[in-house]
Amino acid sequence: MKKVRRRIGILTGGGDCPGLNAVIRAATKSAIYLGYRVVGIRRGYEGLADPVQTMPLTIANTSNILNQGGTILGSTNKGRFSAKVGTDQTRQLDPGLIDMVRRNVQELELDGLICIGGDGSLSIAWQLYQAGIPIVGVPKTIDNDLQGTAFTFGFDSAVACAANALDRLHTTAASHERVMVLEVMGRHTGWIALHAGLAGGGDVILIPEIDWTFENVCAKVLQRQRMGRRFTLIVVAEGARLPDGGLVTAEDNPAATSERQVRLGGIGQIVADEVQKRLGVETRCVVLGHLQRGGEPTYFDRCLSTQYGAHAVRLIEEERFGEMVSYDPPDMTSVSIEKAIAQLHRVDPQGAAVQAARAMAVSFGDTPDYRNPFPCSHVDAKTYAEQFNVSPSAIATSHFDDYE
Ligand code: F6P
Repeated sequence: MKKVRRRIGILTGGGDCPGLNAVIRAATKSAIYLGYRVVGIRRGYEGLADPVQTMPLTIANTSNILNQGGTILGSTNKGRFSAKVGTDQTRQLDPGLIDMVRRNVQELELDGLICIGGDGSLSIAWQLYQAGIPIVGVPKTIDNDLQGTAFTFGFDSAVACAANALDRLHTTAASHERVMVLEVMGRHTGWIALHAGLAGGGDVILIPEIDWTFENVCAKVLQRQRMGRRFTLIVVAEGARLPDGGLVTAEDNPAATSERQVRLGGIGQIVADEVQKRLGVETRCVVLGHLQRGGEPTYFDRCLSTQYGAHAVRLIEEERFGEMVSYDPPDMTSVSIEKAIAQLHRVDPQGAAVQAARAMAVSFGDTPDYRNPFPCSHVDAKTYAEQFNVSPSAIATSHFDDYE
């Protein structure tokens, strides 16, 4: 017989990002219109443990939050509920903690729990689901590193922020004939750097998925100088590895801690220092940091978040627990949470976005040459040199001699 009580819980886990409130609003409204009562769980999974911390979610208190950054429920990405400790390492939660959450979910009489989170929070969701808790997931993260969906919400807003920063750096770089390095977030993937680089006209884009060298980065700066472009914009993802393979971290111990993932950061300044040292060109570094996570969501993210929220309620209504809402343009479908967290969604070095960037002579620091990737319109270095009235040596490997 169909149960009569109808109550949904919603929680936001992990780092915040633009669009969380839009998902909360959409899920709350669509659930209420289906006859559910909605409970917000405060401070991520912490609100389901000792002590339970909740707030009622209503039409009234979810109005006017569509465009608000952050989360009205609060969130946390460390402590006893952190399940992700390394790139591909998941920590098992304490069984006692899982029991406590299960009991509290029963006492709250939840028919379903919507967990809005990235790979860490969804790893927790998957463990709780396996313990019998009726959970559905919503893919959140500015990093866009979750499998099983075309885009996570929050990503577009982070890209907008980084592209806007590049627009601003462009004018000051050009005025002072400087190299400007912009370090962006993205954890172990280069999605933000790649998309912001494309949207903001980056000349060099350094990402974890493509190995690069300082020689090739400097070659691009020189190449631009020879073409009369006396400034260069370099976008570097915080997780891009140094040429020796090292990760740059904001902590002394680069190993993942037992409670959470290591904090990345600092590669931008290293790139800036090295370019300045090798070329003698004035170089500055800007680290965008949490500006990418704050503030209002873009219209694309509002639209995506709204669809995610409404379709998460549909999954609960259909009792499709253990699944995550998935954007498969133009459709909203679902995939198993297990599949979404199995491995990171990385940039394809042969993918369309990288190819488009290469076609415009954007450097990924992996080659000193300009190589158009499109077979239908192959342009070699010599043709390129003639086209732009520069000496072929300007784009050949030999020009390293100039600064070595
Ligand atoms: O996963 C989102 C993210 O903003 C990453 O891009 C970044 O590396 C990390 O979180 C920063 O985390 P925290 O806010 O805990 O320093």
